[in-house]
Amino acid sequence: MQDYDMELTMQAPVQEPERQYYFIEEAKKLIAEKSRMLGRPLTFCVTTFGCQMNARDSEKLTGILEQIGYVEAEEEQADFVIYNTCTVRENANLRVYGRLGYLHSLKKKNPHMMIGLCGCMMQEPQVVEKLKKSYSFVNLIFGTHNIYKFAELVVSALSSDRMVIDIWKDTDKIVEDLPSQRKFPFKSGVNIMFGCNNFCSYCIVPYVRGRERSRNPKDIIREIEHLVADGVVEVMLLGQNVNSYGKNLEEPMTFAQLLQEIEKIEGLKRIRFMTSHPKDLSDELIEVMKNSKKICRHLHLPLQSGSTEILKVMNRKYTKEQYLNLVKKIRTAIPDMSLTTDIIVGFPGETEEDFLETMDVVEQVRYDSAFTFIYSKRTGTPAAAMENQIPEEVVKDRFDRLLAKVQEIGREMSSRDTGTIQEVLVEEQNSQDTHLMTGRLSNNLLVHFPGDVSLLGQICQVRLDECRGFYYMGTNVSVNCNLKMNMSAQSTNLPTF
Ligand code: 5AD
Ligand code: SF4
Repeated sequence: MQDYDMELTMQAPVQEPERQYYFIEEAKKLIAEKSRMLGRPLTFCVTTFGCQMNARDSEKLTGILEQIGYVEAEEEQADFVIYNTCTVRENANLRVYGRLGYLHSLKKKNPHMMIGLCGCMMQEPQVVEKLKKSYSFVNLIFGTHNIYKFAELVVSALSSDRMVIDIWKDTDKIVEDLPSQRKFPFKSGVNIMFGCNNFCSYCIVPYVRGRERSRNPKDIIREIEHLVADGVVEVMLLGQNVNSYGKNLEEPMTFAQLLQEIEKIEGLKRIRFMTSHPKDLSDELIEVMKNSKKICRHLHLPLQSGSTEILKVMNRKYTKEQYLNLVKKIRTAIPDMSLTTDIIVGFPGETEEDFLETMDVVEQVRYDSAFTFIYSKRTGTPAAAMENQIPEEVVKDRFDRLLAKVQEIGREMSSRDTGTIQEVLVEEQNSQDTHLMTGRLSNNLLVHFPGDVSLLGQICQVRLDECRGFYYMGTNVSVNCNLKMNMSAQSTNLPTF
């Protein structure tokens, strides 16, 4: 990260990110004053709803809040509470409204409390209208396109006793070099692109995240190099459709080419990415994955539906057969690739036959796991205007059948590496039994094994002794990894999770 020294005697710069560093300084002064007045540090809590994009955005918000002098609190009894919202399904919105009621009761007890709302839900005009009308105790509302302006917005909110609202419809701007605070010291999400151009007919994301914009490869590489120098060994490249990375760059570049550049970064051990659209997953990418030593053996390949008819109305631009052929190609090239997916049931017009096509794909592909969703009507999307919406009880019945199938297959698939020794990245101490550490396999499954916190962030060789549904119990057999462990943990009966 570059240093940006800011003098507050000068006018706020127009240029970014300099402008934001100016406001960071200004916010610092305001927070220090408030803190002196109260005789205690000011605390914050950022709560994230939704996907990994949002999780990464929350790290950026956290980075700025820490720079300006707030101290992170464990819970929402804090001086600044931020909800980074999701709106991909109606449920997500309802949860936010529900929790705002609780925040209001906290705010009545703490007059210094500020409440900020941001993220995808704020990009919906009817949401902002509702908040203005019925949730006037909220201090700050901003959207997905101007999150880089957070420091500036905090200064406005701190200096105003009215609700500050700043929502942009779209942007072509990407601001680099702003602070962020990682949740894990040894792994990090890295945005490679923003927005989505696909307009799947059920999906609100293109409306709330805007058009596709790829980051410059040099900026991505530089960010990862800095992360690695700071202890990161695994990156998760983030984008709504990573397979179309680079198309709109001045010098176009494919996602596969970007991966090859990232692979060269010394000290980086693992590369993951999310999400792939089946229509754009190239042979070049399969080849690069096959030859890579760092790209993890896990591909999230959203199916959405197994019915060619429904896929057409969903605007997914592939057929059932094309999807199955793609899976065959991937499995032929990389037999140990773990596949996961997203599936929607109850899309308008879905017949029992359409649903059985989805079940058929699930049986043929045999996913390691799948996120199954009940179709949710999102205002403004083409599917919301479709007349043939499916009755709730029919959808529920299909959902239950799908979930049972997905879980049955997932259990069988997950256990296939029992008895083998695998590399794992040790991610955390087990919260239920502190003698155990939890690590992640290349294929994204978790393994619990006896060990201690000195292993955190290390890549260890772990023997997978027993599969318990969707995770393993194992033994650390590394020679070069820190083998210090509590021997008593090995002889006790390990708990079930
Ligand atoms: N209803 C249900 N699920 C949805 N998704 C996106 N939009 C909707 C919707 N309107 C699911 C898709 C996508 C995942 C992130 O969320 O399966 O892949
Ligand atoms: Fe939504 Fe489709 Fe874009 Fe994914 S690819 S974010 S499902 S529109």
